[in-house]
Amino acid sequence: MPDDGASTATAPAAGDGAAVNPLRAGLQSERITEPCSVVFFGASGDLFKRMLLPAVYSMALKGTLPTDFALVGFARTQYDDAGFRDYCRQQLDLFMPPDRKPQGPLWDDFSERISYITADFTDTRHFTDLKERLDENDRQFNTAGNHLFYLATPPSVFPEIIKRLKEAGLDTSSGWTRIIVEKPFGTDLASARTLQRAVEQVFPENEVYRIDHYLGKEPVQDILALRFANTIFEPIWNRNYVQSVQITSAESLGVEERGGYYDHAGALRDMIQNHVINLLALVAMEAPISAAADDIRDEKYKVLSAIETPAYADVWSISARGQYGPGTIDGHPVKGYRQEDEVDPDSNTDTFAAVKFQIANWRWAGVPFYLRSGKRLPRKIAEIAVTFQPIPHRFYGESTDKIDPNVLVIKIEPDEGISMRFEAKVPGPKEHIRSVYMDFNYGSGFGVQSPPAYERLIGDAMRGDQTLFTRWDAVQRAWELVTPILEVWEHTKDFTFPNYAAGSQGPASANALFSGWRRI
Ligand code: BG6
Repeated sequence: MPDDGASTATAPAAGDGAAVNPLRAGLQSERITEPCSVVFFGASGDLFKRMLLPAVYSMALKGTLPTDFALVGFARTQYDDAGFRDYCRQQLDLFMPPDRKPQGPLWDDFSERISYITADFTDTRHFTDLKERLDENDRQFNTAGNHLFYLATPPSVFPEIIKRLKEAGLDTSSGWTRIIVEKPFGTDLASARTLQRAVEQVFPENEVYRIDHYLGKEPVQDILALRFANTIFEPIWNRNYVQSVQITSAESLGVEERGGYYDHAGALRDMIQNHVINLLALVAMEAPISAAADDIRDEKYKVLSAIETPAYADVWSISARGQYGPGTIDGHPVKGYRQEDEVDPDSNTDTFAAVKFQIANWRWAGVPFYLRSGKRLPRKIAEIAVTFQPIPHRFYGESTDKIDPNVLVIKIEPDEGISMRFEAKVPGPKEHIRSVYMDFNYGSGFGVQSPPAYERLIGDAMRGDQTLFTRWDAVQRAWELVTPILEVWEHTKDFTFPNYAAGSQGPASANALFSGWRRI
């Protein structure tokens, strides 16, 4: 990429609010120094145009891409190089913010580095073409034999692509080889193990980057900083002080154009098994001995191992499922799940899932962790709420005001921040007590917008940092936790479906599981 003037490996922090905001003084955003070619399998698909391409282009704009870089699209749709460059430009026009559209010398240089292979994933010859293209990139763009493969296709073709990469000799190169595998990694425990066998026959674990984009979100990365860069939280972060933890990832959107995929997935598979369980691990894990990727991932795995695997007989008492019917979102009527495109009109698929997990260790014994996720809920929100124990004794004789327990909320989206609820006396002669909040907001605090998760994660894979990617042991453990629930749910038709109206708080059964859910 054209050098922005920085001859070293650093570029000025994007947004450059540092001049006015002391919180950002001295920060540098790192240019990735190692050259590489990135190959996007499934480059004509939705994820590529909405998330992956904008993430890479945004890195180019910020000057964080390697100076020696090339991008190869590999997919079924017919394009030549020029046609694919036009396609990329059109998508960036659509999906980049108005002040960051593709134009000028930066776009010209970026687009010259883009090429495309129209491919059948089952045909080794197309992978041989890919190998030639990558060799050519090494010569033309000095990409040094470093190859990053990004599997953004439907998961059913992951094994095929991996096999063909090996057949074409692309499992190794003169530089490094890494592979990013999109979620879902399997559809249950058995299929995840089968996929893992296909992966490990070709790529060792240190080359495999299983993506969970929630781990790239800034407030999610900040969980460990909140817990372990402060001293005031850890002493109370345990069964003695915490009453319960609830993790919510709610969306007001329905299944949009993904009915075909979603009807075979459902909320438990689509969100809880990966994103929400990863949040749980970060909130509940012990302090790692260092920030090394495997030290952190060891602790995540350890705490997931301590969660009690649900017994089939207990599934109904520790879970609740729902499916949305017609309703109203933001004042607009919306259809029910069974009326969505490519969805079985008699579908038994959960669009809402709630689970209660118990962690059997010294820190957390007896503290329930409630997890929920659903589509067509009133609004988009992802948060973790840690509710502390109630006060042991009240001495306010004359006041009957309710004294609520303290709650620490880690807000992941749409607001990114941390909020603490505590009780305060209302000014005046009487002892009236009300809940008040201390709020921290990342945007106004640091004066900068968080980089999109995919940008952070693609950059980390280029740097060879696996910290924010899931290791196989944790993925397998997460499947062990949800598979008994999935099996019972799938073998039991729910005749109450649809059991919540679009735009409502979810099914009544979720309240039977836990009456303390925060309002969405
Ligand atoms: C994806 C799920 O992993 O995460 C989608 O497949 C969901 O169904 C999405 O909509 C939510 O991500 P975010 O970042 O918008 O919360």
